Amino acid sequence: MTDLAHGKPATGTAPSSDHAPASRRDFLTIAGSAIAAVGAVCVAWPLLDTMNPAKDTLAAGAPVDIDLTHVQPGQQIVVLWRSTPIFVVNRTPDLLKVLQDPKDVALLSDPDSTVMQQPAYATNWHRSIQPGYSVLVGICTHLGCIPSYMPQPNSVNPGWLGGYFCPCHGSRYDLAGRVYSGVPAPYNLPVPPYHFLNKTMVRIGENPPDGGDYDLNSVVQI
Ligand code: FES
Repeated sequence: MTDLAHGKPATGTAPSSDHAPASRRDFLTIAGSAIAAVGAVCVAWPLLDTMNPAKDTLAAGAPVDIDLTHVQPGQQIVVLWRSTPIFVVNRTPDLLKVLQDPKDVALLSDPDSTVMQQPAYATNWHRSIQPGYSVLVGICTHLGCIPSYMPQPNSVNPGWLGGYFCPCHGSRYDLAGRVYSGVPAPYNLPVPPYHFLNKTMVRIGENPPDGGDYDLNSVVQI
């Protein structure tokens, strides 16, 4: 399950179509429609309206704050930051177990994240600050489509361990955004700068106080 969320400026959510192939430009159109639909969505999720940031604030690249208490175990939300989709997943112990499964690792092109696609504080087996939450740029490193969140085993093909599937040309990533070998996408999904304000609030677009000066523009490829 994926929801499109708009974080509050340095303090997001409407539903998106999950599995249709979409480029980054298509996504922006989807996002615009989702914003227009907020009134209807509020019935299901009253927080949506209060968490919508001003569009010009987002476009300016201001950090956005996300309340993780509304992200259910196993759920993904999509947050807009700098007009870029950011995937935030509440990873359960079962989902995390896959990331260290030798069967998963054997499928990956860069399992140890040696290519500069993430900050130093997310250069680890789970590519995040806290294993339980992933924060990834939701843009395929092949040609910029939006990968689909497919956490269920066998949901893409028999033997699928769970991860992201890009329907445009078939690239695959695991649930840490690590790209499979032998697919069109050359690199892992980037990790944006982010940090935790407390146990349940994450700020996207800003490094931790001791996290250096990592900038998303420094990655090899978005
Ligand atoms: S854009 Fe994702 S596989 Fe080509």
